[in-house]
Formats: sequence, C-alpha cells, structure tokens
Amino acid sequence: MAPIISIKNLQKTYDGGFTALHGVDLDIEDGEILALLGPNGAGKTTLISAICGLVSPTGGSVTVAGHDIVTDYRAAREMIGLVPQEISIEPFETVINSVRFSRGLFGKRRDDAHIEKVLKSLSLWDKRDSRNNALSGGMKRRVLIAKALSHEPRILFLDEPTAGVDVTLRRDMWQLVRELRNDGVTIILTTHYIEEAEEMADRIGVIDKGRLLLVEDKAKLMKSLGRKELVLELAEPMQTLPESLNAYALRLEGQRLTYTFDTSAERTGITRLMADLAAAGVKFNDLSTRQSSLEDVFLSLVEENAEQDAAA
Ligand SMILES: Nc1ncnc2c1ncn2[C@@H]1O[C@H](COP(=O)(O)OP(=O)(O)O)[C@@H](O)[C@H]1O
Ligand SMILES: [Mg+2]
Repeated sequence: MAPIISIKNLQKTYDGGFTALHGVDLDIEDGEILALLGPNGAGKTTLISAICGLVSPTGGSVTVAGHDIVTDYRAAREMIGLVPQEISIEPFETVINSVRFSRGLFGKRRDDAHIEKVLKSLSLWDKRDSRNNALSGGMKRRVLIAKALSHEPRILFLDEPTAGVDVTLRRDMWQLVRELRNDGVTIILTTHYIEEAEEMADRIGVIDKGRLLLVEDKAKLMKSLGRKELVLELAEPMQTLPESLNAYALRLEGQRLTYTFDTSAERTGITRLMADLAAAGVKFNDLSTRQSSLEDVFLSLVEENAEQDAAA
C-alpha cells in the first residue's frame, strides 16, 4: 500500500540560520496512529508545520496522497486537519460559528449535521453558543480540535494535544483519537509523554535535534522492551570470561556482568546460567533484575545522538 504521506529528505533552516530539520525521511501509512516522541526543541512542531504548509521547507519534499505540499498546496492541505500546539481562536466568535467558519475556509458546503456530530463528540454541544473567550483552557482546546475536524480531513495532526490538559480531557482525547482511527482517519500526534505514545500509537518515531532516530511498530518496540536484564555484581573484577560461558552473550564491565533475556520466551535460561557460572568458578555478591522500558530506549537513543553530535 502506498503511504498517505511521504516525506523525503525534509530540511528546514530558519531565517536566523538555525537548522531545525536535518533531512527527515518518513512514510506514514494510511489509517495508522503515529506518535512522534521527542524532547522540547527536537523539531516536532517544525516537522508538522512543514507538512501542513505553515513553514516552508528549505530542502526535500513532502507529498500528501500524492499531492506535493508546495506545488499542489490546496489539494494537500484539504486532506489535513491540524490542532496546533498553541491555542489560537477568534475570541469573540461563538463556538459553533468558529467551527463552521473553519469548514468554510476549505471551501466545503455547510453541513450542520457534521458540525453537530463533531461538537457532540467533543462534549461541546452545550457550549455551542458560548463565546470562545468565555471558555476554560481545556474547552478552548476542544474547540481547536472541532475546528480541525470541521472539514472532514483524512489526516489529523495533533501537536502536543495533552500538554498541560487535565486528566478528563486527556482521556476524552484518547477516546476521540480511537474513534477517528476506526473511521479510517490517519493520526499523527507529537508528545513528550512516553506514556501517551505507549497508550495510543501503532508506530512510534523518536525525533531529537532535527533528526528522526527511529521509527518502529509499537508492538515490536514493546517486544524489545520485553527484554529484562539480570545484573550480577561479581566478587572480583574479571578481564575475560571462561569460554564455557560464550553461548550466553554476557556483557562484562569490570565487576558487573549482565545477562539479557526475553521475558516472553519459554525459558529465561537463568537456571542453566547459574549452574554454568558455578561450574566455571565465577562468584558474585549480589544480583538484581531490571526491565528496560520505552523510556530507557528513548533516553539511550537521545544520549547516543548527543554523543555523535559531540564527536562530529
Ligand atoms: N521561527 C523560528 N525561528 C528560528 N528558530 C525556530 C523557529 N521556530 C522554532 N525554532 C527552533 O527550532 C527548534 C525546533 O523547534 P520546534 O519544532 O518547535 O521543536 P518541538 O516542537 O519539538 O519542541 C528549536 O530549537 C526552536 O528554537
Ligand atoms: Mg512543539
């Protein structure tokens, strides 16, 4: 299946000379939920803004359902709903009018049934005649989402949708994202909450300092997270391990010996390892296990990226 969004070597250097995207390549599949995970300043908003035509790329290309975002801007943009990171809505307009207006901007015929459905799905129906500036921050964010959905986009971008929102709104947002996905909408969300990526995404992309460090199926990532480590503190430091232990692929760092095993495997191999260690005369004072998490993967990737930068 052809990707719905295809990003090739996308680059952005801002006017001041700062490069926020260093050649990003990414294909987004039709109907998936992709989470872009990265620390502040990683380039998430720049990437989304470039795809949505709010920031002009300085290199590379993006197509949305085959439409180039520069040469075929209108057709590309029409397919996209964007919920920006910063709240910006017409203060004196009523909720329902600003949502209707957003739809009109895309040249779509007025459709009150659709607007009603969107407002209801966001628990905004009762507030439809309120002015935007009379709403709480959470409600304003709901209006932004309603506006983004007003023209029935096939693709929805959510830029840090739950940063600073309360638990109820977060839960509602996740529920809404699931419903939209069931309707076939492709969803790209950015977040610096690992938990959110874990909860929502089909695939997770990690971005840092303008580089996409990894894109992986969540299920696969979770499988690699299914790995646990058994850490042994040795009684004495060792230079090399006895050959009889070669099969275990152990990691030796001074006085610490680490054995990685797969929690989903039928056997962990720990019992045999213990027996073989004893037979080889390797003694240890302490042992502990640790489970790697998405957070570990994320942090180690970002760390590696920092080291490479320092070396470059
Ligand atoms: N208009 C701009 N001019 C210059 N630099 C910018 C501009 N917008 C963003 N940046 C810089 O680009 C980098 C990436 O920003 P951004 O895409 O907002 O990151 P994120 O959304 O991941 O936090 C940051 O270092 C930011 O300061
Ligand atoms: Mg951002």
